[in-house]
Amino acid sequence: MPIDKNELRRVMGHFATGVTIITTVAKDGQMVGLTANALTSVSLVPPLLLICVDKSADSYPHFADSKLFTVNVLSGDQEDLSRRFATKSDNKFQGVAYRVGANGAPILGNVLAFMECRIVASYEGGDHTIYLGEIEEASALEGQPLLFYRGGYRSFAP
Ligand SMILES: Cc1cc2nc3c(=O)[nH]c(=O)nc-3n(C[C@H](O)[C@H](O)[C@H](O)COP(=O)(O)O)c2cc1C
Repeated sequence: MPIDKNELRRVMGHFATGVTIITTVAKDGQMVGLTANALTSVSLVPPLLLICVDKSADSYPHFADSKLFTVNVLSGDQEDLSRRFATKSDNKFQGVAYRVGANGAPILGNVLAFMECRIVASYEGGDHTIYLGEIEEASALEGQPLLFYRGGYRSFAP
C-alpha cells in the first residue's frame, strides 16, 4: 500500500534542514520567489546544486522560462520572510529589501548566503521538477541559520 501523503510529510519532517527562498524572474520582469528546503549540494567541480519545485506552485512556470534561479539561505531572524514566501500572493516582494544579482534574479537583504545559478538540466520528480543549477556566484556571511524541523521553525540553542 502506498505511504499516506501526510504520514510521509510527518516522517520526512524528522530530517532537519535550513530554509531558503528560491528566486527567479518572470518574462515580464516581475520578481518571483518561494520558500524551499529541498536543496542539495551536488558537485564541487563543476559547481552544481539541485532544487525541487512543486508543479502546482504559482512560481513554477517561471523557472523553465528564465532558466535561472538564486538560492537565498535564510538567517535565524528571517522566519517572517520564510512565512511570506511560503504563502501564495501577488505581492510577495512588497516592502522586501533585495537587489538584482548578476543572473537577473533577486538576492534578498540580510540572507546568510546566496548561490546564483543557471539551470543546466531538469528531471521529472513526481509532483515536483528537479532543477540542476550550475553555480555562477556564491557568497556567505557570518550569522545564525533559520532551521526547520518536524513542521516548525527552530534555531540553534544559544
Ligand atoms: C519550510 C518550507 C519548505 C518548503 N520547501 C519547498 C520546496 O522545497 N519546494 C517547493 O516547491 N515548495 C516548498 N515549500 C512550499 C512553498 O513555499 C509554498 O507552496 C509556496 O506557497 C509556493 O509559492 P507560490 O505558489 O506562490 O509559488 C516549502 C514550504 C516551507 C514552509
